[in-house]
Amino acid sequence: MFRRLPDAAAGPLVPVTIDGQGVMVPEGESAAAAALAAGMVPTRTTPVSGAPRAPWCMMGVCFECLMEIDGEPNMQGCMVPVRAGMVIRRQEGARRLPAMPGTSHEAAGASLGAASGAPAAAPANPQG
Ligand code: FES
Repeated sequence: MFRRLPDAAAGPLVPVTIDGQGVMVPEGESAAAAALAAGMVPTRTTPVSGAPRAPWCMMGVCFECLMEIDGEPNMQGCMVPVRAGMVIRRQEGARRLPAMPGTSHEAAGASLGAASGAPAAAPANPQG
């Protein structure tokens, strides 16, 4: 679906893992661009309805490129340059939140939707 411009791959290549598959990508390319070129579309699903999403603006504005990078969820893939050994994974639904120090709230480890006050089991939303 996506391919690089001919001069984009002219520099050194680095090994990364995208959705479990080892690939060589141009050093410094964004994780989102690498994921698109590797065919990882969608790159995430939405927390409420599970709708597929993929990078859109490629400049840090839309947040459609959220993905898991090196085990860290909710990374803006378009803003993170690849480096050798990077592991990029599709982000499925809501990420887990870390426990907040000093709280006994059940939100520790809860999903983003529950922590933000959204209903835990919202009805399907065709737009999101
Ligand atoms: S693609 Fe829009 S913020 Fe990354």
